[in-house]
Amino acid sequence: MFVFQLLIFIFIYSQTSSRIHFFKGQWDPYDMKYGNFPESERLKMLDATRKMFHFGYDNYMKYAYPEDELNPIYCKGRGHDHENPSNINVNDALGDYMLTLVDTLDTLAIMGNKTEFIRAVRLVIDNLSFDKSNTVQVFEASIRILGALLSAHLIITDPRQSFGNMASLQYENELLSLANDLGVRLLPAFDNTATGIPYPRVNLKHGVPKDCINETCTAGAGTLVVEFAILSRLLGDPVYESLARRAVKRLWKFRSNVTGLLGNVINVQTGEWTGQMSGLGAGLDSFYEYLLKVGRSKCNTGTGNPPIYVNVNMKTGDIVNNWIDSLQAAWTGIQVKRYNWNLKAPEVMFYPLRPECGYGTVHDVNDKSLEDRMESFFLSETCKYLYLVRFIYCC
Ligand SMILES: *[C@@H]1O[C@H](CO)[C@@H](O)[C@H](O)[C@H]1NC(C)=O
Ligand SMILES: *[C@@H]1O[C@H](CO)[C@@H](O)[C@H](O)[C@H]1NC(C)=O
Ligand SMILES: *[C@@H]1O[C@H](CO)[C@@H](O)[C@H](O)[C@H]1NC(C)=O
Ligand SMILES: *[C@@H]1O[C@H](CO)[C@@H](O)[C@H](O)[C@H]1NC(C)=O
Repeated sequence: MFVFQLLIFIFIYSQTSSRIHFFKGQWDPYDMKYGNFPESERLKMLDATRKMFHFGYDNYMKYAYPEDELNPIYCKGRGHDHENPSNINVNDALGDYMLTLVDTLDTLAIMGNKTEFIRAVRLVIDNLSFDKSNTVQVFEASIRILGALLSAHLIITDPRQSFGNMASLQYENELLSLANDLGVRLLPAFDNTATGIPYPRVNLKHGVPKDCINETCTAGAGTLVVEFAILSRLLGDPVYESLARRAVKRLWKFRSNVTGLLGNVINVQTGEWTGQMSGLGAGLDSFYEYLLKVGRSKCNTGTGNPPIYVNVNMKTGDIVNNWIDSLQAAWTGIQVKRYNWNLKAPEVMFYPLRPECGYGTVHDVNDKSLEDRMESFFLSETCKYLYLVRFIYCC
């Protein structure tokens, strides 16, 4: 769902500037070094990004599809971990639903590969099914799958056909139907919680598991509203949007009456904060991002000592630790431009972390060891945003 904001940004940018000036006024040595970008270099980088994307994408299709992700070192597919259901690091995102392909649809269109976009949409329409007894995280399913299906649907049905003429696709809103099918399967998360804040996980076939924990992170419960609202509006069915909005309002209601802050983990039955760390990083980051995106920017006001956004105790405001994670480091970018918050694998850009057939997740930035996993967002976010960042220079 980030594409459209970017396009708006590009539009505004192109209206206000015909050249690249990152820095106004006095140029210091850093401005001289980083403040401009020759056109030849931009084209080279754009091409390099496209190649990087296709290397990962083609090998995903070759070695992993229809599984969710590519293991880039041993060139194998990866799906839901059925042997170890408590492996939430994998199972929250991977539901045996062709995750990387679905998540990457809009990137194909944005990179101008209409042929492959149409082929991929057909594969999704013909083969994607959510009728599986897999327990996934509502939030991950919403941002990676629901958002992806809705983006692709909007690209296909856009009256301006900005990404090429899609007439040859013979489309009958199948992606929207798939999104609705997934949405229905996620809805049980909102049933029977005393606060209206959703459970963190559902089984796609059987609803909320009996033993589901009652704790959810703030971001997980409060970052559904963009996708759910778009689904509601496209279907003309207010249920999704109203439930997602209610969750945000309830979370907000439980903020500390002393500091006004939210914690990072809340009990969905009691409204009690079991995680009292407040900050802008993991557990909370996208909650604030979505507040901005749905126009609740007044929820993001306040004063404090710049420039570092530290983690504090939600009840006292005391600093609780000294690290800044990659998500909170991106916050300033969200506030200013709101478009590249999710370049959350920056290491990948700085080192050639390219094992056999894809791009590995950096396990340890000190020794640069790799994990045999190419997350779906490497193609659908890292590559896409790199591409768009380089693309805008032309305007
Ligand atoms: C489109 O994508 C396919 C599959 O990755 C690739 O083989 C083809 O070269 C791409 N075409 C363009 C114009 O990039
Ligand atoms: C998926 O759909 C395509 C047609 O679009 C078909 O050729 C293919 O066999 C199906 N199955 C898989 C696993 O891709
Ligand atoms: C969640 O809360 C409900 C209602 O308070 C309780 O019945 C259930 O046992 C709790 N579940 C877990 C896993 O603690
Ligand atoms: C804040 O709420 C708690 C109960 O949640 C209450 O005991 C306390 O008095 C309230 N403090 C203020 C300053 O209103």
